[in-house]
Amino acid sequence: MPPVPVHPPADLSAFRAALLDWYDAHGRTLAWRASPGAASPEPYRVWLSEVMLQQTTTPHATPYFHSFTVRWPTVSDLAAAGDSDVMAAWAGLGYYARARNLLACARAVARDHGGVFPDTEAGLLALPGVGAYTAAAVAAIAFGRAANVVDGNVERVMSRLFAVETPLPAAKPELKRLAATLVAGDRPGDWAQALMDLGATVCRPGRPTCERCPLTRWCAGFRTGAPERYPLKTKKTERPHRTGTAWVLRDAAGRVALVRRPDKGLLGGMTGLPTSDWSVDAAVASPPVAADWQDAGAIEHVFTHFSLTLSVQTATGTGDFLWTHADEALVSLPTVFSKALERALAS
Ligand code: ADE
Repeated sequence: MPPVPVHPPADLSAFRAALLDWYDAHGRTLAWRASPGAASPEPYRVWLSEVMLQQTTTPHATPYFHSFTVRWPTVSDLAAAGDSDVMAAWAGLGYYARARNLLACARAVARDHGGVFPDTEAGLLALPGVGAYTAAAVAAIAFGRAANVVDGNVERVMSRLFAVETPLPAAKPELKRLAATLVAGDRPGDWAQALMDLGATVCRPGRPTCERCPLTRWCAGFRTGAPERYPLKTKKTERPHRTGTAWVLRDAAGRVALVRRPDKGLLGGMTGLPTSDWSVDAAVASPPVAADWQDAGAIEHVFTHFSLTLSVQTATGTGDFLWTHADEALVSLPTVFSKALERALAS
């Protein structure tokens, strides 16, 4: 194994030029990016896209980005939106606390900053719900600040470039320090996005395509002959499994009975199907109303901290619920509930 270099490349400007040239030729065209040579993209669009992308992949985020920016073209428009409209528009992106933070941040920008995002990393970091990653990304991409933007892609690129033997997650601070040694005042937004694009398209998790990489001359991982070994990872403990029941109560008009979930906890404040607790042991669950409940099978869903088997029961009936047309519910409910509803409709 060659010694691990702990310093940035001696020819840092050649290294940076190699990646920035690659980005100019091969960077991805994404909805929230300015076209090459254009002025910086609007801070609102950068912020919104970065929050969405912490959640999901670029192809999945893109239609959400379009619908948010058509419906709420500025941060002040978003700030004036109703909580439930924003939560419903977020449905399917997952991790709903982030949608609540999104709205809290938009309202702080509108109320305390006259609808204009602060233009420094520290100013951005002071906004509600804006963490180190988002503050750095918006500072670099929207305001041209030399911020150190480190997401999972960048961590992987650093772990390979420097052949870091410390496993994740312990390696995170080291990877961040290494990334900082490569940042400069020249094109900071492009630099951040070039690293991310390289990580997403070339320096990929399983099978990096080093033959397409502009950085192999500098890459200690490449020199080991097994760059895919990086980043090393501490073995994960398995996700616990939970079970529960979802009830799909329908009326004669094709509507479905929905409930608002408590503000605290998973999917807090979202509209969903009535369900039992999702306990580790299969609970004997009691339905929300007495009806002729029929078994409609089960669905599987994986959350960050556990996986879930939800058995689906269906019946027709009435009661005090948020009655919503099935078609609308299918597209606006969080994924776990739309899966359960689909199961019931198919039974
Ligand atoms: N992932 C998160 N933010 C990104 C961006 N701006 N470009 C590419 N990938 C990203």
